[in-house]
Amino acid sequence: MQKHKRKSVDPIYSMCVQPSFIIGTNNEDGTHNFAPITWVSATQGEDDGYYLVISMFGTKRTKLNVIRTGVLSANLVSRDMLPLMDYFGSKHAKDGKKNDIPYGVSRGEVIDVPTLDESRWVYECKVVRSVETGDSTTFFCRICNIQIDERLSPKDIFDVDLTVLDPVIYSGKYHSIGKMLGEIGDFCKPGLE
Ligand SMILES: Cc1cc2nc3c(=O)[nH]c(=O)nc-3n(C[C@H](O)[C@H](O)[C@H](O)COP(=O)(O)O)c2cc1C
Repeated sequence: MQKHKRKSVDPIYSMCVQPSFIIGTNNEDGTHNFAPITWVSATQGEDDGYYLVISMFGTKRTKLNVIRTGVLSANLVSRDMLPLMDYFGSKHAKDGKKNDIPYGVSRGEVIDVPTLDESRWVYECKVVRSVETGDSTTFFCRICNIQIDERLSPKDIFDVDLTVLDPVIYSGKYHSIGKMLGEIGDFCKPGLE
C-alpha cells in the first residue's frame, strides 16, 4: 500500500463536497423567492425517516422567510439548471424580484411552498428545530413530501440513480458526478480463486 505524501496548511480551506439545492420560500406578500443553498446534509429524524439539515448565514431573504414561515422546498439542481442557480445566487431578493430569466413555479403537493418545475427531486419541508452558530442558522427540517422524476422507481430507500438526477456538486466550484461505482459491500468481497 502506498503512503500518500501530504502537507499541513492553515485550517481555512473549504473542501466540503456539497449537493446543490435551490431553496424555495414564501415572501411576506405571498410571492415566491428562490436562492441556492449548498450547506445541505441529512441526519436521523425523531420519528420515521431523516431530517434535512440546511445552514444559512447572514440576513438573506431566504433565511428570514424560513424563520418567519417555518417551511421551505429544497429543489435539487441538475446540470441543466446551472444558469438558474447562478442567477438566483447572484441576485439578492432585497434588490428586487428575481424575474430576469424565465422559470416555472408550482406549489408543493403537501406543504404550501413554491417549487421549481425544472427540478427532478423536490423536498417539501417543515422546520422542527434551528441552531445558531455565529452568523449562521442551521435548520433541521422534517421531510413531509418528496416529488421525484417519473423515470425513477426506487426499489428501496437507497436505490436512487444519481445518473438520472445528474446533480451539480459544489465545493467552491461547480462539478458534475461521474460513473456509478457500485454498492456497499461490492469492494470487500473475498477474492475469486
Ligand atoms: C453555489 C452557491 C451556493 C450557496 N450556498 C449558500 C449556503 O449554503 N448558505 C447560504 O447562506 N448562502 C449560500 N449562497 C448564497 C445565497 O444563495 C445568495 O446570497 C443569494 O443571493 C441569497 O438570495 P436571497 O436574497 O433571495 O435570499 C450560495 C450561493 C451560491 C451561488
